[in-house]
Amino acid sequence: MLKLFDMGNEKNPKERIEELRQQIERYNYYYYTKNESLISDIEFDKLLKELEGLEHDHPEYKVENSPTTNVGASSLKESKFKKVIHKKPMLSLNNSYNIGDVIAFAERVEKNLDGTHRDLEYVLELKLDGASISVQYEGGELVRAVTRGDGIEGEDVTENILAIKSIPNYLKENISIEVRGEIVLPLSRFQELNQRRLEDGEEIFANPRNAASGTLRQLDAEVVKERELDAYFYYLVDSENYGMKTHKESLEYLSKIGIKTTGIAEVISSMSVMEERIAYWEKAKEELDYETDGLVLKLNNISLWEEVGYTTKSPRWAIAYKFPAKQVTTKLNGITWQVGRTGKVTPVAELEEVELSGSKVKRASLHNMDEVIRKDIRIGDRVFIEKAAEIIPQVVSSVKEVRDGSEKIVEAPTHCPVCNSLLEKEEGLVDLKCVNPACPAIIQGSIEYFVSRDGMNISGFGSRIVERMLELGYIKDITDIYTLSKYSEEMKQLDKMGEKSVEKLLASIEKSKERPYSKTLYALGIPFVGKFLGNVLAKRSGDIDKLSSMTKEELLDIDGVGEKVAESVYGFFRDEKSMEIVKKLKEYGINFSQEKKKNSSGEGLFSGKTFLFTGKLEKFKREEIKELIEALGGTNMSSVSKKLDYLIVGADAGSKLKKAQELETVKILTEDEFIEMTK
Ligand code: IVH
Repeated sequence: MLKLFDMGNEKNPKERIEELRQQIERYNYYYYTKNESLISDIEFDKLLKELEGLEHDHPEYKVENSPTTNVGASSLKESKFKKVIHKKPMLSLNNSYNIGDVIAFAERVEKNLDGTHRDLEYVLELKLDGASISVQYEGGELVRAVTRGDGIEGEDVTENILAIKSIPNYLKENISIEVRGEIVLPLSRFQELNQRRLEDGEEIFANPRNAASGTLRQLDAEVVKERELDAYFYYLVDSENYGMKTHKESLEYLSKIGIKTTGIAEVISSMSVMEERIAYWEKAKEELDYETDGLVLKLNNISLWEEVGYTTKSPRWAIAYKFPAKQVTTKLNGITWQVGRTGKVTPVAELEEVELSGSKVKRASLHNMDEVIRKDIRIGDRVFIEKAAEIIPQVVSSVKEVRDGSEKIVEAPTHCPVCNSLLEKEEGLVDLKCVNPACPAIIQGSIEYFVSRDGMNISGFGSRIVERMLELGYIKDITDIYTLSKYSEEMKQLDKMGEKSVEKLLASIEKSKERPYSKTLYALGIPFVGKFLGNVLAKRSGDIDKLSSMTKEELLDIDGVGEKVAESVYGFFRDEKSMEIVKKLKEYGINFSQEKKKNSSGEGLFSGKTFLFTGKLEKFKREEIKELIEALGGTNMSSVSKKLDYLIVGADAGSKLKKAQELETVKILTEDEFIEMTK
């Protein structure tokens, strides 16, 4: 059985070369013929580089058709279209993954020019992720369009290309040219198309590139028309024959004669600007309505292209810069079942460590058992992972093509992995649940949620400490946090706690009593009441007594509250145990009211007063101090002006402090003086 992911290189060079060649050819086959990526680009390039290195050291083992010299071969054997040899090969691009690679590329370009040219200009373009196409016009009329195929020979898809609105059948000038570009499916169209396919019970496209490439190979041009493909062109073949001096000029020319370009072609002549623009596009690409997988840098001066030269696969005067991979593959070693604060039991993937968007990943979310079954994920599988909303990694899919039969089917647990009580599955819902209120995992989860930054914002209460306090019996539920000071001496003796951290923790607990009502409401952990609803409910109810006496209808009347939320809030305040907790918290002085502290005339303590803080604050986080000012009726300002009443100054304050001193009307406070004012 062919081993696809063996990255080891202990084998003798001959065997390893053969193995790498087979692996790479298989990936190429899936990528170009089936539009499927079995591996991320960076992993693919690693294998290709290893093969290149070995072939360089052992040229006697290099075969004629090695993937290191051939552009990824698309199998045209199965093609339904007429095959056409390209007038000029359709080359590929070398990839780079960081600014260091880009600088090395620019140095190679200079070296190839014998060091006679410095300060060269490059054009930075988007690298569109679609299907490449070469289109020929004769006397201004579109006569032929050919896919890339293996770079030498492609498929004649002229009929389909004529059905794409954004590719003109006639140019604005009566000329004969060949242009190359990318056929894409706009993201908005891609979503619509998949939605419809889902409704019609058809298989959905994995990504826009897949959809564009699949559509291009449709035999029915009507389908192509209906799908509304789009196209952008980035290369005029033999542009010097049309009097072009620079690549930028050739793109402008294409645009002038009616050929669509992205309009993004930045001329850059310094590597520091290049670095800055790369960083810019890494974010800005998200705003585009087409998928890009990177940038392309091309030497602007066309007359130097020949001199810089070509490899058999790619021009030496251009390079692709690939954006950090959104997805990488790794091995799923096992699954652990985690119990959350609501009792929800979720599968967590234990992975072979990989790097993903700059961080090392060992665990990823698998959401729930239904998802595991739907995606057919098995232990031992090679899996694709990505960061959801750029933060928590999750398993996207498994690569079924590389299974060797040793993979194991995932079995759902029947009992809670923490307290061993029987798990339940509510009808119609996908989650397994531990319903034992005394389950240590549920208690720990609810305490961690309560003290979190969005909740009571108690610092120094990490999960290890919470766990320890629970073990020692110092806390049994969230209310015990406010009586923790009675164990202060014992806590100071604990490993890794010490006097200072205990004092800090207790001070933070004390301070949490002043948290705004919206935050204390959030901290209670009422199902479905997150940050947003915490705010809405706090504003609309004014205080917890009012909220707890609201009928379901009254709750439903609040904007943003639906059936599920109304049911949950109503139920929470009718649950004896929850009410007991709220009562205790109230007794301990936790704030459950929107009302602001009043001054002697009954207004908020800071009513009509304006505040600004500057420098490094030690006692407050920025958001925290802002919230406190607002809770007391004050207004936060963003700059020093005559309208400012108080400037709170932390360490290393700079220009704001200077300006306030000059104005003389602003009262300058230290953090302690400010705290005094709030009392
Ligand atoms: S230039 C000699 N420019 O990326 C010119 N290619 O990985 C070679 N691609 O086959 C191509 N956007 O399908 C070029 N702005 C761009 C591109 C681009 C996407 C594709 C193209 C090419 C592949 C190479």
